[in-house]
Amino acid sequence: MGDDDNMEILYNAQQYLTTRYPANLFDEGQTMIVPTFPIDYFHKFYQQFHTEWDHSTAKLLEIGGGPCVHTFISAAPYVAEIYHSDYVQSCRDEVKMWRNNDPNAYDWTPYFNYVVNKLEGQSGHNPVAERQERLRKILKDIVYCDINTDDAIVPTITFPVNIITTSYCLEHSKSLELYDSTLRKFYDMLTPNGFLALLSGIECTWSILNGIKHPFPLYLSLDIIKKSLEKAGFVIRYMNSREIPLSERGIDRDTPSVGFFVAQKKCH
Ligand SMILES: C[S@@+](CC[C@H](N)C(=O)[O-])C[C@H]1O[C@@H](n2cnc3c(N)ncnc32)[C@H](O)[C@@H]1O
Repeated sequence: MGDDDNMEILYNAQQYLTTRYPANLFDEGQTMIVPTFPIDYFHKFYQQFHTEWDHSTAKLLEIGGGPCVHTFISAAPYVAEIYHSDYVQSCRDEVKMWRNNDPNAYDWTPYFNYVVNKLEGQSGHNPVAERQERLRKILKDIVYCDINTDDAIVPTITFPVNIITTSYCLEHSKSLELYDSTLRKFYDMLTPNGFLALLSGIECTWSILNGIKHPFPLYLSLDIIKKSLEKAGFVIRYMNSREIPLSERGIDRDTPSVGFFVAQKKCH
């Protein structure tokens, strides 16, 4: 079985969404063990740093976004264009369905409610519908990307962009050399003073695919990521980590903690 097939199975869009992004995550009294911290981290990033770019022109690129749009909800007020990318076709198709308002698309409304009503505290005239409409309008393209190539990671969009975001994707780099090379490419893909917001599993050693345990190709610690970012030329503006309690860990991989980094291509 080739890498493409493995990734299609591992990240089958429907299955991934229902296990990782359940619709009832925010229901009162729900007993899911899926945490909200990935949304909270990206939300804080936009709240804290959005004054450092021009909202009317800013371009955002998500790498390895999977079948998801949740991190864009917090971004939408602060950028002009969003580009989503992923390696797996079913993930890209799922995001296209959402953008096209297809009746079979995944319903992200509970996530919009969480960000717009709870985190932003908005309660005016239908702010959730307005945010959904804005996001559909500025989500300009959904394209193929590959972080393990020697060529361009995202061959079909025009660079530079102001912001690159990525969550739980770079762990799929096939070696530390490729990881370093991806971060150098990200640096080149950004405008001067552009930002990279990166969420990563830390010290993950195995995952399960088709009932078989596979070693993770790349061992990442906070220190390894920090050094790779600095080697690529980035200045780290924010760094945070969180231990994942046993009760919140998925059964498909061992991820004892996560790290969140905001890194900047600082130009004087
Ligand atoms: C754990 S999922 C994360 C999805 C989403 N970013 C999230 O936070 O839920 C990992 C994503 O990386 C993508 N991926 C795997 N190998 C990749 C590669 N070589 N290049 C780009 N993306 C890849 C998968 O298709 C999958 O959507």
